[in-house]
Amino acid sequence: MNSQDYIALEEKYGAHNYHPLPVVLAKGEGVYLWDVEGKKYYDFLSAYSAVNQGHCHPKIINTLIEQAKTLTLTSRAFYNNCLGPYEKYITEYFGYDKMLPMNSGAEADETALKLCRRWAYDKKGVPENEAKIIVCLGNFHGRTITVISMSNDPDSYKGFGPYTPGFIKIPYNDLNELEKALQDPTVAGFLVEPIQGEAGVVVPDEGYLRKAYEMCKEKNVLFIADEVQTGLCRTGKLLACDHEGIKPDILILGKALSGGTMPISAVLADDEVMLVIKPGEHGSTFGGNPLASKVAVAALEVLKEENLADNAEKIGNIFREEVKKINSEMIEIVRGKGLLNAIVIKPKNGKEAWDVCLQMKENGLLAKPTHQHIIRFAPPLVINEEQIREAVKIIEKSILQVEQM
Ligand SMILES: Cc1ncc(COP(=O)(O)O)c(C=O)c1O
Repeated sequence: MNSQDYIALEEKYGAHNYHPLPVVLAKGEGVYLWDVEGKKYYDFLSAYSAVNQGHCHPKIINTLIEQAKTLTLTSRAFYNNCLGPYEKYITEYFGYDKMLPMNSGAEADETALKLCRRWAYDKKGVPENEAKIIVCLGNFHGRTITVISMSNDPDSYKGFGPYTPGFIKIPYNDLNELEKALQDPTVAGFLVEPIQGEAGVVVPDEGYLRKAYEMCKEKNVLFIADEVQTGLCRTGKLLACDHEGIKPDILILGKALSGGTMPISAVLADDEVMLVIKPGEHGSTFGGNPLASKVAVAALEVLKEENLADNAEKIGNIFREEVKKINSEMIEIVRGKGLLNAIVIKPKNGKEAWDVCLQMKENGLLAKPTHQHIIRFAPPLVINEEQIREAVKIIEKSILQVEQM
């Protein structure tokens, strides 16, 4: 079978809930992917930042294989000999009292919302069913009904109502609006992405997160950081919140927590928050399974052993510096932090971000538009200087070719 055959199968038998770039991948290693015809590409999406450690990282894969041969799933009806050590490891790693394991990012966000609401009733004294959570316009926290109830992106929410109530939506990076929203005494939490990834790598002003955190503290409101995409070294620090020296009351992680091998997410908090949920009140059949527990520890170890935060910082600076030198009218804005970057594309002769992505694919680099005019560039964090320079050459060549079309 060739690429066309595989694409036809997905078209015929799969739901049409994605619009993939027409490339069929069969193998990955480090920063590279290969399609079924054997063509090699730079991966500049990293499965939406789930593959920070690089494709098929040997340490993570070996851990996965060894544990898969031993014990994979017990459910939380029983204890297992991997979850406790994982919980100890990850809580010490991030400096929290407790962790709650889930699978997808959306589930971890849902978990954080439940924790926040319950905390509001049990600890803050908000009357039952009145807790509100402030969220930001442009957010992306996943695809469940409650999570899309927080969204203002019609692609995410339109046609899926009725929606979950209890959210106050304010503009991102706007402290005045936050101040106003915080006046409501039933507000329990403020949920925020330190950089809005899906919105197109929107980086808030320096100091925004710190000030927002302080304002939440003043009003006894939980500061909840969704670091599913920005966390785990992606932006040049272990967490994007580290750039501003703040420790969220609730921290949400996912994606690269497994190095891209399986869905593993986690919510971290101190006892005052985490212990409001009692046995039987929340859970997941697969959350905290032995396989995930071992894999997550290996994935976290790799981040530290290979200094991936420092590498993301260094290579990210080179990336932005080099891309800004490209002389093309189609490049409107280059922005980002560490290795979470985006180029805002100005359409020319009817050609837009999608056409640039198709051309980059032809030239051996895979990236995907987020919204119509923005291309996100987020390679695995193991990328080196020589590779980033070669990749930027491919980006330059592709944009210039599209401009000439
Ligand atoms: C910030 C953020 N939160 C949550 C999610 C949802 O994660 P998942 O697709 O694993 O449910 C994403 C996915 O892109 C994300 O970027």
